[in-house]
Amino acid sequence: MYISQLHVEHFRNLSSQVVPLSAKINLITGENGAGKTSLLEAIYFLGRQRSFRTAKPKELIQQDKHYFRLIAKTAEPEHQIGLERKLDGHNLSFQLRIDRQPQKSPAALVKIVPTIAITAHSFRLIDAGPAVRRAFIDYGAFHFDSDYYRHWQHYQKALKNRNAALKQKMTKSVIDSFTPFLSSYGEQLHRTRTAYFRAFKPLLAKHLRALEFPFDITIRYTPGWNSDNNLSTSLSNHYEQDYRLSHTRFGPHRADMRLTVKGGNADNRLSRGQQKALILAMHLAQMDLIGEYGISAPLLIIDDIAAEFDAEKRNHVLHYLAKLNCQMFFSTTEADFFDKEIRSLASLIQLKSGAVI
Ligand SMILES: Nc1ncnc2c1ncn2[C@@H]1O[C@H](COP(=O)(O)OP(=O)(O)O)[C@@H](O)[C@H]1O
Ligand SMILES: [Mg+2]
Repeated sequence: MYISQLHVEHFRNLSSQVVPLSAKINLITGENGAGKTSLLEAIYFLGRQRSFRTAKPKELIQQDKHYFRLIAKTAEPEHQIGLERKLDGHNLSFQLRIDRQPQKSPAALVKIVPTIAITAHSFRLIDAGPAVRRAFIDYGAFHFDSDYYRHWQHYQKALKNRNAALKQKMTKSVIDSFTPFLSSYGEQLHRTRTAYFRAFKPLLAKHLRALEFPFDITIRYTPGWNSDNNLSTSLSNHYEQDYRLSHTRFGPHRADMRLTVKGGNADNRLSRGQQKALILAMHLAQMDLIGEYGISAPLLIIDDIAAEFDAEKRNHVLHYLAKLNCQMFFSTTEADFFDKEIRSLASLIQLKSGAVI
């Protein structure tokens, strides 16, 4: 799958325009503030229905406008996707159409347009708390196992109910009534995540090697509870503690993955450039699995691709990425950063004050 053209309307500083896109490498250039990250953000929004730099979708609407709209044409397979967010008073409505059919949920779109992005915020995968890494695992697992999302929804619902019962200091029998659901869906999530990691690890190692990563990285999935016990035993073992603290302390909602290098945490043992290479390898491994188990090939977005890498690394990375069989969107302030060969493979999108020139 690739996006052959994107019509943007009132999104950030971007002028309303139709941007033709190449099936392979799209190199987005322009000065600071030209709208490079905004264009990548619009593409990301199509695939993920959210931004990578703000949790407030209102900020995406162009100043003094009350809606933004994205209309994408995809090829292999062909689809037309229309997405709109509109301000109605304080309410921000959401409208999605796939091939002119209104959709109640974006789940179908998430499958059609798998989107991987590496941006300045991606470093959080290494240096922020576990929620960011769980979201990364969940996105991979969502494409890896078609039942995962359903299990995840059931688990979240049971967790919310049990936590509400704990908070309201309900009787033990009421609190325990959520346990069978919670543990059965929780175990399912754990099984999928375990299988996902088994497939993920060798792919990560392969990409790290190809990127000439200088250290051994150990990546360890932690399920969120002591999985020597099944989840239902763990829940009953911690019942008193959960009751006192008014929430469920252990379970897949506390899962994480630990990245260690040279016996310490990756965030303080790696240079920024090495962190970027590690993040890139993790996303490439995730893309491989989406390509294998998902329903369409993922898009790869890299904002400010040249940042953190020296000239040699930059070209090495670029030549490695150029071999990937997917649609790519890279932004940079200077297209001249890249050698002739890469530039001959890429189609150039030059932005100035929000418009493609
Ligand atoms: N909602 C908005 N409406 C209009 N302009 C915006 C909005 N949000 C951000 N901008 C502006 O868009 C410009 C482009 O930002 P950005 O895409 O980050 O540029 P680049 O990545 O090319 O440096 C900035 O000048 C920013 O102030
Ligand atoms: Mg930018």
